Amino acid sequence: MTESNLLHPVRIRRMESSDLPHVIELDQRSFSLPWPERSFRFELEINEVSRCWVAELLLPDAAPLLVGMIVVWLIEDEVHVATLAVAPEYRRHKIAQRLLAHTLVDAYHSGGNCSFLEVRSGNLAAISMYLRFGYREVAIRRNYYKDNGEDALLMNLVPMDLDSLMSLL
Ligand SMILES: CC(C)(COP(=O)(O)OP(=O)(O)OC[C@H]1O[C@@H](n2cnc3c(N)ncnc32)[C@H](O)[C@@H]1OP(=O)(O)O)[C@@H](O)C(=O)NCCC(=O)NCCS
Repeated sequence: MTESNLLHPVRIRRMESSDLPHVIELDQRSFSLPWPERSFRFELEINEVSRCWVAELLLPDAAPLLVGMIVVWLIEDEVHVATLAVAPEYRRHKIAQRLLAHTLVDAYHSGGNCSFLEVRSGNLAAISMYLRFGYREVAIRRNYYKDNGEDALLMNLVPMDLDSLMSLL
C-alpha cells in the first residue's frame, strides 16, 4: 500500500489543546498503557522541551480527521521520541513515517543532532520503521513495561542526517 491509496491528502501540524479528545482516543486505541489526559496537557501546555504534532486527513466535505500524533522532547541536541501512534484503520500508509520525519527535520533545524527512543521488544511494526530511519538498538531494559513485563529496546539515531530524513517525508 502507498499513501496514494489514502485518497485524501495528509497534513502535519502542531497539536493544539482542542485536539486532546481525539489524541486521547487515538492513544487509548493504540497502547495497552495509554497516557492520562493530564500527561498530554502537560506536554502541550507546560513542558518547554516538548514538541507535539498531529497528522490529519483533509476530507473534501468534512472536518479534517486526526489520524496520527507524536510527542518528542528536544533536550540539548537530543530528540527523545516520547510517543507516536497512528489510528489502526489508517496504518501502513506512511503516516507515521512522515510524522516522524517531519518532527525530526523540525528538531534538526532547532539544533537536534541525534535521537533516542524506547520501544517494546515485540513491537515489530515500530521497530521496522525505526530501522528504516537508521535507528540502531543500543541497550535492552529488562521487564520495563508494567502491564506484561515486556523488555524495552533502547534505540538511537546518531547522528541525524538531514538528507536521509528529507527522503522519508
Ligand atoms: C508503529 C506505528 C506508529 C506505525 O504507523 P504506520 O503509519 O502504520 O507506519 P508507516 O505506514 O509509516 O510505516 C513505515 C514503515 O514502517 C514499517 N512498518 C510499519 N508497520 C509495519 C508492520 N505492521 N509490519 C512491518 N513493518 C511495518 C514498514 O517498513 C513501513 O514501510 P512500508 O509500508 O513501505 O513497508 C503504528 O503501527 C502504531 O500506531 N502502532 C501502535 C502504537 C505504537 O506501537 N507506537 C510506537 C511506539 S514506540
